[in-house]
Amino acid sequence: MPLYHLTTFGCQMNAHDSERMRGLLSGLGYDEAPGRAVADLIVFNTCTIRGSADERFMGNLGEARRIKRERPDVVVAVGGCWAQSQKEDVFRDFPFVDIAFGPGEVNRLGELLARERIHTVGAFTFDGRFSGDLPSLRERPHQAWVQISVGCNCVCSYCIVPSVRGRESSRPWRAVVDEVGAQAADGVVEVTLLGQNVNSYGRDLPAGDRRTFAELLTAVAEVPGIERVRYTSPHPKDIRDDVIAVHRDMPEVCRHIHLPAQSGSTRVLKAMRRTYDRQRYLDLVGRIRAAVPDIALTTDLIVGFPGEGDADFADTVSLVREVGFDGAYTFVYSPRPGTEAGEHMDDDVPADVKSERISVLIDAVQATARERLARHVGTVQDVLVEGPSRTNPLRLTGRTTHNVTVNFTGDALGGAIVPVLIMASTSTTLAGSLARVPEPAGTT
Ligand code: 5AD
Ligand code: SF4
Repeated sequence: MPLYHLTTFGCQMNAHDSERMRGLLSGLGYDEAPGRAVADLIVFNTCTIRGSADERFMGNLGEARRIKRERPDVVVAVGGCWAQSQKEDVFRDFPFVDIAFGPGEVNRLGELLARERIHTVGAFTFDGRFSGDLPSLRERPHQAWVQISVGCNCVCSYCIVPSVRGRESSRPWRAVVDEVGAQAADGVVEVTLLGQNVNSYGRDLPAGDRRTFAELLTAVAEVPGIERVRYTSPHPKDIRDDVIAVHRDMPEVCRHIHLPAQSGSTRVLKAMRRTYDRQRYLDLVGRIRAAVPDIALTTDLIVGFPGEGDADFADTVSLVREVGFDGAYTFVYSPRPGTEAGEHMDDDVPADVKSERISVLIDAVQATARERLARHVGTVQDVLVEGPSRTNPLRLTGRTTHNVTVNFTGDALGGAIVPVLIMASTSTTLAGSLARVPEPAGTT
């Protein structure tokens, strides 16, 4: 049996696409190799969101080059966003790469491999179909990604995604609900709906077959066997009250929203073309919290955007405190080719100021998250069991509806949702023990 080795970089959409690649390769008779060194096919699913993503991938590609030098029969395939951003240049700059394909091209991996076998190297294509319709080899038996759209119509001035993933296109809602039904029948209890901007879902579907994101969320939550529904990522400009109501009314829809703010400064948000300002973001948070008081909010923040002054940065730090985020991913601005900011704005925040700002921001995020997570101590939380903890196999790990990882003692099966008494917290995790559910009185 030929062996493949697959490395995934980037976001959840790539994790999803990699599961589809595994499904395709397994259907073609490939088995997974224990390491790159013994693989017949080396696949990379790449990201290009920041310069650092490109650099990380280059290191890995260098190893593939060395392996190919020793074993020229090895096939090297590069998929995903970096491949898309390079187009045909991939083969000029990296002649040892046999196959390159864009993020909308996962479905053609098999065909490209067949073509490669008859020695037509340098195959590249991109056609934007839904990888969600392909077979999947899931990494986790009880949790699944579900693609609801591809592409993005936003024009955020820093972001390369619209140029590599193309215009937004929604997957027909029936295909989404049917897929979730099949996953539930296969033991899945938690699904995460994926799109670059999940909230604009459905706007491009034909009238009559159109569903809003709130309607889709409800339909998925109603699938028998599905106990938890998550999604990522919404754009704050598109969250409507009907979506907030679904969080309030449907117990399956988790008490967590990842709500990328990017900055707390109205001036910078404008230059980023986010189309909301600080106050509108805060108002949205207020409406969400009024409907679902205990909801967890997490976010993405960028420091060092062109023109970001001390006062703008102070606005971002104060946003963290004012909202009370349960967690945040923090990034240093990285100019990207082909983006409005990358091409037309001066990357004028000095490197030392950027690194000072990111460390101040990380401290603020950690302090806020620590305070927020401490509210769970002493409560009993329903935890979806994922399996033994990575750091201590004698303990179990799982997540709460708030998407917080809990490490705990006790016996429970993967995929079960169990009550856990929370006894300690950090800025990112909780610890506890399985709560014995008291025997109802009078049963002995
Ligand atoms: N520089 C830094 N961070 C970026 N992000 C997107 N583009 C850039 C960039 N050019 C961040 C945003 C986004 C997350 C996935 O990556 O915060 O939400
Ligand atoms: Fe990376 Fe963005 Fe592509 Fe995801 S969509 S892999 S984050 S460039």
